[in-house]
Amino acid sequence: MLRIGVIGCGTIGKGICKAIDDGAVKAELVAVYDRNTCDAEKLKGQFNRCKPEFMEIAEMVQNIDLLVECASQEAVYDVVPLALISKCDVMILSVGALADEELRRRIEDLATENSCKVYIPSGAIVGLDGLKSASIGEIYSATITTRKPPRGLVGAPFVIRNNIDLDRINAPTVLFEGPASEAVKAFPANVNVAATLSVAGIGFEKTEVRVIADPTITRNIHEITVVGSFGEFATKVENVPSPSNPKSSYLAQLSAIATLKKISSPFQIGT
Ligand SMILES: NC(=O)c1ccc[n+]([C@@H]2O[C@H](COP(=O)([O-])OP(=O)(O)OC[C@H]3O[C@@H](n4cnc5c(N)ncnc54)[C@H](O)[C@@H]3O)[C@@H](O)[C@H]2O)c1
Repeated sequence: MLRIGVIGCGTIGKGICKAIDDGAVKAELVAVYDRNTCDAEKLKGQFNRCKPEFMEIAEMVQNIDLLVECASQEAVYDVVPLALISKCDVMILSVGALADEELRRRIEDLATENSCKVYIPSGAIVGLDGLKSASIGEIYSATITTRKPPRGLVGAPFVIRNNIDLDRINAPTVLFEGPASEAVKAFPANVNVAATLSVAGIGFEKTEVRVIADPTITRNIHEITVVGSFGEFATKVENVPSPSNPKSSYLAQLSAIATLKKISSPFQIGT
């Protein structure tokens, strides 16, 4: 059975661990780690079937087949290369880290050298199947507009740097327009979807991002438009935010679980 280790025991990590414990994902949850040791210890006590150990990353990668990163962009730098060197496959949720070209190349090289796979779930967006197919031809443009309730943008470096008072926004307001390479630094916890779109499509410089703070909505809305030699498509998803983390969409957690199900299943459905 696939042996899994999870880094980051927050909203998504808890959901993934629960799916393994419930048997929805046929795998063994061997280890968990969080820099907040209390969160990891608390989580360990919530399982019916699984008995994961709390392990530091160096020990974890010796005992697993697949490392799931659902912590932070910083964690991608710290744990993903180490896991690949130890011949573990990895699944990355903090996709914004891959905007760093040097890191992305290093991960790609290490994965190739060690015959490992790097899985990136579709996260909180829909339409990646079409984008991947379209990218076999030519893509002329890929644009994502992310609309969130203002409280979902609290703590973003862009908001802090520009002294934006989110409580005073009383109408839909465009906060940011620019390439995905800048958006992932400006809103690291909010626009992983733009990073995923970039990796699957035309890269971080050419993918265009718009971030709107919208006090009239309660859901996180992502609208994608792709134009290419295939024609054009547009998708829209209205995500329910996770109750414990308004920056995170519930669909992101579900997509991580669906990816694990696909990895651990004999059936491989979709593009
Ligand atoms: N790909 C997507 O579409 C998508 C969607 C939502 C969230 N995300 C990303 O996934 C990650 C997890 O999201 P979440 O909603 O579960 O966040 P969360 O804040 O609820 O949980 C993150 C957990 O990781 C821990 N952590 C952070 N950095 C760490 C490190 N360096 N080492 C060990 N533990 C660390 C924190 O203590 C926390 O418990 C975030 O980076 C988030 O931006 C991606």
